[in-house]
Amino acid sequence: MTVFSGAGISAESGVPTFRDVETGLWAKVDPYEISSADGWRAHPDRVWAWYLWRHHMMSAVAPNNAHRAVAAWEDYADVHVITQNVDNLHERAGSSRVYHVHGSLFEFHCDVCGSAYHGAVPDMPEPVESVDPPHCDTCGGLIRPNVVWFGEALPDDAWDKSVQAVVNADVVVSVGTSSVVYPAAGLPELAIARGVPVIEVNPEETPLSPSATVTLRESAVAALPGLLQRLPVLLG
Ligand code: APR
Repeated sequence: MTVFSGAGISAESGVPTFRDVETGLWAKVDPYEISSADGWRAHPDRVWAWYLWRHHMMSAVAPNNAHRAVAAWEDYADVHVITQNVDNLHERAGSSRVYHVHGSLFEFHCDVCGSAYHGAVPDMPEPVESVDPPHCDTCGGLIRPNVVWFGEALPDDAWDKSVQAVVNADVVVSVGTSSVVYPAAGLPELAIARGVPVIEVNPEETPLSPSATVTLRESAVAALPGLLQRLPVLLG
């Protein structure tokens, strides 16, 4: 089984999604400014402050029953998790193979020389507008989160493993993603093109919905805990 997850799987843990109109993170900030390579170059202090706040938020929440269900499937199947989320809730729920195609907010590196940064990052319980990022011990460059911004390439290793996980799957479960951000959104499409059934779990219609094998208009926490038992019926 291959799971392809987006912000919606963490919504019921209390992490706002990106594109939900009223509560989404993008409703409050300009996504391009705050999550792009250009935005970082123009205002690293604003970008750093915003990610520190998200880092706090993601550290403060717990995995929910959807993350736990995916982890529990490992008792019955060979499970690969491809996530667009930069939180670590799949790992904390117990999933052992998680591919972060958009990086992780729990790793940091130097923007100039790429050295990993293991220093402390300040706790930021409330959002503030500006915090200067730390400097790299090796070259003096600015430290940034290990997340993929608009205008950047996806990490090769995570991407290669994700493609393999999709093409070798018996079933792909796409859960909690608006399916609009490529190339990640192309992974369920690749499954469909290869004849691998795709189950979409999302309360809302997405561009993937018309081509998905099965669409479940349910929340992740409602759908995932019983999904394994429903598979024979859902897939005929
Ligand atoms: N259960 C399942 N799905 C949900 C739930 C829930 N409880 N709540 C919301 N959703 C769905 C929404 O209907 C929406 O389709 O989750 C989706 C969230 O979509 P986005 O906010 O666009 O998040 P995502 O698809 O992960 O975004 C992809 O875009 O901004 C970039 O890098 C960022 O990784 C992110 C990428």
